[in-house]
Amino acid sequence: MLKLNNIEVSYLNVVKVLHGISITVENGVVVALLGANGAGKTTTLKAISGLLRIEEGEINDGTIEWDGIRIDKKNAVDIGKLGIVQALEGRRVFEHLNAEENLLVGAFSRSNLKDVKADLNMVYSYFPRLESLKHNIAGYLSGGEQQMLVIGRAMMAAPRLMMLDEPSLGLAPMVVDQIYDIIKRFNMDRKTAILLVEQNVRVALNTAHYGYVMENGRVVLDGSADYLKGREDVKEFYMGISASGEKKSYKDVKHYKRRKRWL
Ligand SMILES: Nc1ncnc2c1ncn2[C@@H]1O[C@H](COP(=O)(O)OP(=O)(O)OP(=O)(O)O)[C@@H](O)[C@H]1O
Ligand SMILES: [Mg+2]
Repeated sequence: MLKLNNIEVSYLNVVKVLHGISITVENGVVVALLGANGAGKTTTLKAISGLLRIEEGEINDGTIEWDGIRIDKKNAVDIGKLGIVQALEGRRVFEHLNAEENLLVGAFSRSNLKDVKADLNMVYSYFPRLESLKHNIAGYLSGGEQQMLVIGRAMMAAPRLMMLDEPSLGLAPMVVDQIYDIIKRFNMDRKTAILLVEQNVRVALNTAHYGYVMENGRVVLDGSADYLKGREDVKEFYMGISASGEKKSYKDVKHYKRRKRWL
């Protein structure tokens, strides 16, 4: 189980961006982290994975526990060895390597390399498309294929907690649904916990069991996916659907945002 207790983060010692974040990810559960641009979602993932330091970010206060062990002072490599893996935002593939080599990179963070072949086959069973593309240079794959590769690479690390940063970004709706079907299946088959950052609230809440809404570096709302989906403010504010079921224009939603304050 992952537990963040009152985490505060600043960049370059001055810009404070997280103001006391507390979230829990139970074993085997899918949790969505929702919120507008700049809310601090990616920063939260980086605080967990230890990647914050590379960007001169620092945890100033609070604790992060993984199965009861403090990990907030550990480095990214040690955190990776404990079974936590973060797939980065923006489809970062190794452009000059082929697809299979990209997947193999994902296996190197773990201590036991014995089952790499079996895990390659496991990834190919979820993403048959990647198998047929395995000799292709990653830089030339389509956006959706690159996203599959990034998720496949995270799967190769045999994680117990997989963190995905906006897997739907820039993809056609059909591809988004395909990728989320696979994420869901992977969670059900392997009982891997997943912490998911998404702007696409509909898709995220259809996959997740639980969700947190962040705003300006704070958690402003949390609850089961069904509870969040049923709330009028979430529907209107984040899904752009008004009570009458009609789609609201951006201008209306923005107006709503100005009026509405989260409790
Ligand atoms: N390396 C950095 N140095 C300084 N400030 C940063 C750095 N990375 C992020 N920030 C700032 O921290 C705040 C939170 O950023 P973060 O990337 O966590 O937001 P986000 O919720 O992931 O947004 P998005 O949905 O746009 O990806 C923003 O104001 C951002 O400008
Ligand atoms: Mg982000």
